[in-house]
Amino acid sequence: MAKKDSGKKITVYTLKGGEGKTTIACAIALEGDWAIITNDVHSDLTSALKEESYLVLDPHHPLPTKEDLFGANIIFDPGGFLDERMIDAIKMSDYVIIPVTEFGKKLNTERFMASVFEIEQYNKNIVIVLNKITDETAKIAKEELKKQKYNYPVFEMKKNEAFEIMLNEGIPISQIVKRGGLFKRWFSQVDNQLQNLINYINK
Ligand SMILES: Nc1ncnc2c1ncn2[C@@H]1O[C@H](COP(=O)(O)OP(=O)(O)OP(=O)(O)O)[C@@H](O)[C@H]1O
Ligand SMILES: [Mg+2]
Repeated sequence: MAKKDSGKKITVYTLKGGEGKTTIACAIALEGDWAIITNDVHSDLTSALKEESYLVLDPHHPLPTKEDLFGANIIFDPGGFLDERMIDAIKMSDYVIIPVTEFGKKLNTERFMASVFEIEQYNKNIVIVLNKITDETAKIAKEELKKQKYNYPVFEMKKNEAFEIMLNEGIPISQIVKRGGLFKRWFSQVDNQLQNLINYINK
């Protein structure tokens, strides 16, 4: 019998740009022993992660195989488009995180629904992240969720400048919070939200 892969594989995907795929991928990666693989040659992972923690696939570079990645914790970050390699990545993923901002707004909702539809062909372990949430957008998003009746788990991620600090300085959110003082006050909620998501995908 084949040995079970103890390494986790996660994909963060949505059709719409700027929803926070790379941000969420980095936030998770920096909290543990993860590497990120992307087909986005313009990815800004370079500023946040150590060189050995990410792989940018240029257009002719094949995806490492499941065997190559055996035992490793990998987050796939398809740069807004699914090529054959990223479809294989989705198929080998334990979960596919779909971030959506301003859920309830027409364009965002439509793109989100199209993303879910696309992913479901390959993987049904979808996790919804309502990203860049504010008090106002949270209310609208929750009403929209009730209408949509998805059976997927939903996590919230506040709109917060901690993510910018994390991306620029390559410091995990949990460490930024530990700087204390005002950082703790402002950032502890996003730290909790991120840990909730990580606990779920680590199950
Ligand atoms: N929860 C958040 N709070 C504040 N800013 C955020 C949050 N999530 C993402 N951002 C910001 O939103 C911008 C877009 O995020 P990001 O680059 O991760 O999106 P993406 O989905 O990877 O985009 P692309 O499709 O271009 O790859 C970035 O400037 C990022 O710092
Ligand atoms: Mg990106």
